[in-house]
Amino acid sequence: MKNIQEKIIAAADLISNSNYLVAFTGAGISVESGIPSFRGTEGLWSKYNPEVLDLNFFNKNPKESWVVIKEIFYDFFGKANPNPGHFGLSRLEELGILKCVITQNIDNLHQVAGSKVVHEFHGNSQVLVCTDCGKRYTIPEVDLEQQPPECMECSGLLKPDFIFFGESIPMDAYQASLAAAEKADVFIIIGSTGEVMPANQIPEIAKQNGAKIIEINPSPSNYTHHLTDIFLDGKAGDVMALLMEKIEK
Ligand code: APR
Repeated sequence: MKNIQEKIIAAADLISNSNYLVAFTGAGISVESGIPSFRGTEGLWSKYNPEVLDLNFFNKNPKESWVVIKEIFYDFFGKANPNPGHFGLSRLEELGILKCVITQNIDNLHQVAGSKVVHEFHGNSQVLVCTDCGKRYTIPEVDLEQQPPECMECSGLLKPDFIFFGESIPMDAYQASLAAAEKADVFIIIGSTGEVMPANQIPEIAKQNGAKIIEINPSPSNYTHHLTDIFLDGKAGDVMALLMEKIEK
């Protein structure tokens, strides 16, 4: 099975005949929505120092961290829209084929595209939490021009409700993702390098439990050569559109 057409047909068959399809997404699925990925030549970590998302650094240097966090995640995020990659997954859920999306992304685009069951392994950027009293704010409630943003109740430092390096994964998302990976008979990996623990264990668990792995990525990842059964080398939006054409025919 060499060319992309044959592989699309094979992948579409696997998806249509699956009993428990699960999708696992990374930053790559949002690149066609205008949100840069983290790694790679144009990646965010080639422009910014990842330590701004290190919990200890953030607590010691809140203003320095927040200036970069605002630029990366808030100046643009609110204006990004889902692309055919996100819409394809929400359609597969609507058709009763896709059981859930496990995402490493914090951009909320799966939900905006209509996906209902989304396990956010790294949390979500739409909420800020007070590091002192725990009060939660949606983004429109906070003036992000005031840096670093403070709690209106106790003046404590506000932190985005997504996971920083050094922070533990939300237990409910972790357990739900593990359970889904164990049940999956077909598992689609879209747009992830597979660099970050423990998220990168989820596809491994699916494979260990017998799932067939489909991967969509324009370039090989840490999964491609040892985990992936069908590698669809292309952009998420383009490939998902081709898959949906076959599946909905
Ligand atoms: N369609 C699909 N995949 C794409 C596209 C595209 N249009 N463009 C790029 N990619 C792929 C890249 O080839 C790469 O494999 O998306 C992947 C992006 O990799 P990363 O930037 O490492 O993103 P991800 O794997 O999600 O990172 C995991 O790292 O910094 C942390 O918390 C952050 O959730 C993130 C985690």
